[in-house]
Amino acid sequence: MEKEKQYIYIVQASLEPSKCKIGKTSDLERRVSEYNNMTGKSKENTYRYLFSCAVKDMAQVEKDIKDVFQKFREDKKKEIYFFNDDLFEEYVKFIKSHNLFIEDIFIKIDDKKPIVKIVKKTTPTLKERGLSSPKDLMQKAQKRKNDEFYTRYEDIEKEISMYAKEIWKDKIVFCNCDDAVDEKNGKINEKRTSAFALYFINNFKNLGLKKLICTHYSGPIDLFNAGSKGLVYLITYEVGEDGRIKIEKQSPKGYTGSFDDPLSLKILNEEADIVCTNPPFSRAADYWKTIIKSKKKFLIISNISNIVTNSFIPYFYYYKVWAGYNRVDWFEDDRKRLIDASGHWYTNLPITNRPKYEHLKIMHLDDIPAKYKKDDDSKILLVDNCYIPDNYHKPFAVSARPILNGLLEKGYCLIENKEYYPYINGKKCFARVLVQKM
Ligand SMILES: C[S@@+](CC[C@H](N)C(=O)[O-])C[C@H]1O[C@@H](n2cnc3c(N)ncnc32)[C@H](O)[C@@H]1O
Repeated sequence: MEKEKQYIYIVQASLEPSKCKIGKTSDLERRVSEYNNMTGKSKENTYRYLFSCAVKDMAQVEKDIKDVFQKFREDKKKEIYFFNDDLFEEYVKFIKSHNLFIEDIFIKIDDKKPIVKIVKKTTPTLKERGLSSPKDLMQKAQKRKNDEFYTRYEDIEKEISMYAKEIWKDKIVFCNCDDAVDEKNGKINEKRTSAFALYFINNFKNLGLKKLICTHYSGPIDLFNAGSKGLVYLITYEVGEDGRIKIEKQSPKGYTGSFDDPLSLKILNEEADIVCTNPPFSRAADYWKTIIKSKKKFLIISNISNIVTNSFIPYFYYYKVWAGYNRVDWFEDDRKRLIDASGHWYTNLPITNRPKYEHLKIMHLDDIPAKYKKDDDSKILLVDNCYIPDNYHKPFAVSARPILNGLLEKGYCLIENKEYYPYINGKKCFARVLVQKM
């Protein structure tokens, strides 16, 4: 009897480009038809494979993917993972380096009749992939399993130094995402204190702050080892009547420390002036919604691709948020090891003379090198590498980078508050946004 085939796949719905599903199946064609025939699915929402491969033990590989990428999974429906170019690359890299990986399977699915043909591709060797052994990668990935991303002190210092100091004067700063402070009798243990909290404590007088409020979230992982599981607290710093800094630590009953806990919302809405933190990746959309609704000033770190992701684009479109000055490529894990991730500062604080304007190459369309401009199948101009035409008055599509470099402050505006997906020769390309010269 022929042995049952085993596959791992990454599938995506056309209307949900910031997510994908990673799963296992013994029949790839049947699986995608099942997705496409789900009850309640709209006609426009078509699932197609982004990647699929044969493996030796699909249950094991699927389990390892779940473990390694647990923080990139949506909470409720566990097979749903967050998606962007970098994450997709990570998922594929991990799967292809797994010791149970056999070979890629490329399936081309026609949108209307979802069964076409299976074409085998040759798999590059590990050496071609620049890996010493699959075990290496697996171990590396496993180590990341429980990672939480700490922001480095130097990244906070670098960003805040770009803003006018007056912004902070007499202000109440609220760090509402796991910004724990390990403090005993007024002494701070720097190693176990969030760099956000530490930065504001160290610069409390220099910035002229009125108060600093930090919360500790009782999540599954105690990032800063700052309290036993379940111990959540609020810590406040303020200048007392005697001119000295007073520290108050409280663990209000029933308080979860979550940014959307009623007490955190009360502080946000009634007390805080400026919110500054690096919120959890998996709750970014909720976090942005909460913070923008509060109408408070904020300076936060989030994914670099937010500007080309539907949940966030409207905020840029309505000028509720814009890029901060710097990208943040490196974070630390709980053992202070460096982790690379694509972060960027976002804010609603005023930005002046953004140094990154220099990266925008604004020039006549004819002067843009041919390899950085092309029309997509709908005859929309796509420009790359931060080239921007200044004599082109129709909408054109750009990736995240020019927007992060300040394009919307240079006489260009977003013309749609949603993602734009170019197709080239029928092939869907990565998300962009449509902009136009005003
Ligand atoms: C990306 S880490 C950043 C930690 C810290 N702010 C820093 O920058 O070093 C996000 C943190 O938010 C915490 N977190 C997760 N869900 C949360 C929630 N609902 N409310 C507040 N914090 C949360 C996580 O435990 C995690 O430590």
